[in-house]
Amino acid sequence: MKITLKDFTRATLAAGALILAAGPLAAKEFRLGLITPPPHVWTKAAEAFGAELAEKSGGEHSVAVFPARQLGNEAEMLQQLQTGALDMAFMTVAEVSNRVPDMGAFYAPYLAQDIGHAAAILRSDTARGMLETLPQEAGVVGVGFGSAGLRQIVSRGEVDSVEDLAGKKIRITPFDANLDFYNAIGAAPTPMPLPAVYDALANGQVDAIDMDVELIDVLKYYEHADTILFSNHMMFPMVGLISARVYAGLSDEDKAMITELMAKHVDSTLDTYTEKEPVWTENLMGVGKTTKEVGPEFFGDAIGEWEATWAEKAPSLPALRATAEELK
Ligand code: BEZ
Repeated sequence: MKITLKDFTRATLAAGALILAAGPLAAKEFRLGLITPPPHVWTKAAEAFGAELAEKSGGEHSVAVFPARQLGNEAEMLQQLQTGALDMAFMTVAEVSNRVPDMGAFYAPYLAQDIGHAAAILRSDTARGMLETLPQEAGVVGVGFGSAGLRQIVSRGEVDSVEDLAGKKIRITPFDANLDFYNAIGAAPTPMPLPAVYDALANGQVDAIDMDVELIDVLKYYEHADTILFSNHMMFPMVGLISARVYAGLSDEDKAMITELMAKHVDSTLDTYTEKEPVWTENLMGVGKTTKEVGPEFFGDAIGEWEATWAEKAPSLPALRATAEELK
């Protein structure tokens, strides 16, 4: 039988109509990237999200989780999310703040007075409202916040006052709000990704690190240090992200199911840290290092200096501070 151009065009149009009738997206395995190692709270939450999505979608959708920077560093993953090459990520708000400076407001020193307060701030309408600009500004949909607790300082040598940190190379997560804080205390902040931290402290490439109690304990960052300063000086939020391009191709039903489930598992990390931070802290009290609890007074004028800089860079800072006050 001879097939004419007209037949071919008709068949192509009919196939197209069938695909449209089937809806924007059928079964899919979503790829979710993160930088944290497999045993980390975020990685476990990502896996639990994947398991529940597979169950609730009757096996139609699944999530392949790529931990430990398998898909690149966070800057690279954010780029992949923008193009749609990556579907999802659990990412530090730190990285997002490099693209969307307003997110730097979350790093206001002592915004949260403790881990429970941090969770309440991250669950507030003010915080959630700050996600609204992400599709336009970063090409991603933010479903909600999680956390890696509060930040501490682990140092080689004794630290009796903030002057002891002056000029010291302190490892920081690479983002401006943290850089400005350590510059304000007169240290030499050294941006460095997570996998490089243990060796850098072990071989003296840095004198101290900015870190949370989970990783100080679990990855034994204290082993090549003398002092653990329990300073709780900053929150360290995480955000669950979906590529805006990928999101646009989902059916309304899938949008609702995926957003709800991802938000639930991202949010679960807030409870995990609230529950486990005292345990990790207690463990660290017993590792034979000098431990000190310090508060805002330890950092002197640096906090005011940070606030003055970031009041300009992060328009949401006053509203977030007001919310934090209300939630105390
Ligand atoms: C860090 O850069 O210190 C970090 C990143 C992700 C999770 C926890 C800590």
